[in-house]
Amino acid sequence: MQLIRLDLAGCHEGRIGSGGLSLEDQRKAQEPLAAAIERANATAGTGMAGWRTLVQEPTRSQHLDAVRAACATAAGADTLVLLGIGGSALGPAAVHAALRSLTWNLQTNEDRGGPRLFVLDNIDPDLVGPVLDLIRRTDPSFERTVFNVISKSGETAETASQFMIVRSMLEQAGGKHHIIATTDPDQGTLRSLAKQHGWPTLPIPDGVGGRFSELSPVGLFPAAMCGIDIEELLDGAAAMDAVCRSTDMSTNPAAQLAWTLVEMTRRGRSNHVLMPYSNRMALMADWFRQLWAESLGKRHDLNGTEVFAGPTPIKALGATDQHSQIQLYREGPDDKVIGFVTLDEHDAQLAIPRDLGEESLSYLQGHDLSDLLRAEQRATEFALAESGRAHFTIALPRLDASSIGQFLWLWQVATAIAADLLEINAYDQPAVETGKQATFGLMGRQGFEHWVQRVNDQLG
Ligand code: PA5
Repeated sequence: MQLIRLDLAGCHEGRIGSGGLSLEDQRKAQEPLAAAIERANATAGTGMAGWRTLVQEPTRSQHLDAVRAACATAAGADTLVLLGIGGSALGPAAVHAALRSLTWNLQTNEDRGGPRLFVLDNIDPDLVGPVLDLIRRTDPSFERTVFNVISKSGETAETASQFMIVRSMLEQAGGKHHIIATTDPDQGTLRSLAKQHGWPTLPIPDGVGGRFSELSPVGLFPAAMCGIDIEELLDGAAAMDAVCRSTDMSTNPAAQLAWTLVEMTRRGRSNHVLMPYSNRMALMADWFRQLWAESLGKRHDLNGTEVFAGPTPIKALGATDQHSQIQLYREGPDDKVIGFVTLDEHDAQLAIPRDLGEESLSYLQGHDLSDLLRAEQRATEFALAESGRAHFTIALPRLDASSIGQFLWLWQVATAIAADLLEINAYDQPAVETGKQATFGLMGRQGFEHWVQRVNDQLG
């Protein structure tokens, strides 16, 4: 298996001068970082770090079997709709975009070889309404459409409201319907509804929070439905897991990434941009944003002291955002680290033809578009380095399931180690819960009435 490569030279003083990390900094970090890795290894698979078992037996085989069985019940479907939000939607959307064609939904059923996919990750009626209308036009009875409702808690207002609309629409349509509920294995509203109605279910096990759940049935089911090799995804993640257990910083990419970004944050570079030079990886920057922001943005440390920790993750897309963001990244405040994601090989080859006959454009002729994309990334990297701006690169050999499994796992382990270094809890999200509960109150849910007063007192 070819491993993805992490190059952090752009954060070192040899490349960017005195603002960069020195060999002495790295030497001093060895011991505390080895201790952080040991703690991560010791807790892997326990408590909220239960997600580390997703790539191990017996969890891996149990999930593969459950997902294959669910796919069998959905065989012949030509549309798959995911209802979910946050960690229940960002991963599936990102993996689909990375591993399927960007024109997937526009292709014929035969050409695709899997259902078209709609990820309804918002409650904007201008999103939900038109998508459901479109499906109704091609499948009026919804018999060829699978609705996969995904919610760990089974209570999230956005997902619940979408699902209520879908359920009533299916009842009106009559006929045979396909609902698959991905949720907590034992508890929650969605679990009890599924039991009551006999819908097939998939588990989100204990210790697997939303943003760490892409390689659980949350992501494996939609991926398998769309023909992605889910064993290869898990193999890639398992290979990354093995190298990320090394207590030697120099051979552990997650530890290097975590330490570098935490250290940069401490030195004032707390805005972390992820900038793939690949449209198919653009949604992966959204997935990263949630993982980094919700896991590391914390008011209190593990001792309860107010720390207001957390870098701000930002997404960008190369080369498009060179014409939008790079001016700021190179000449604005020196408060960022720019992370490039590059591909050694693109699936499509598209040569620039030799037929324009213009002297000033002749340098482009005969090159492939991927040559131009690579040159633009390198030129941007050079421009940032010349201005002493911190940057790093994650290079993927190509977009295949193994590389994507590795990429997801690299960031998940790096997040756990970064949280340890910042001495905060990566796995809670009290601020998100506050918003969820205030929404319950404002929408009239029993038991949450006191939130209305709190909201009115605060906002007037
Ligand atoms: O990462 C998280 O925990 C959150 O983003 C959740 O995934 C999100 O709030 C949705 O929650 P649930 O899956 O319970 O509906």
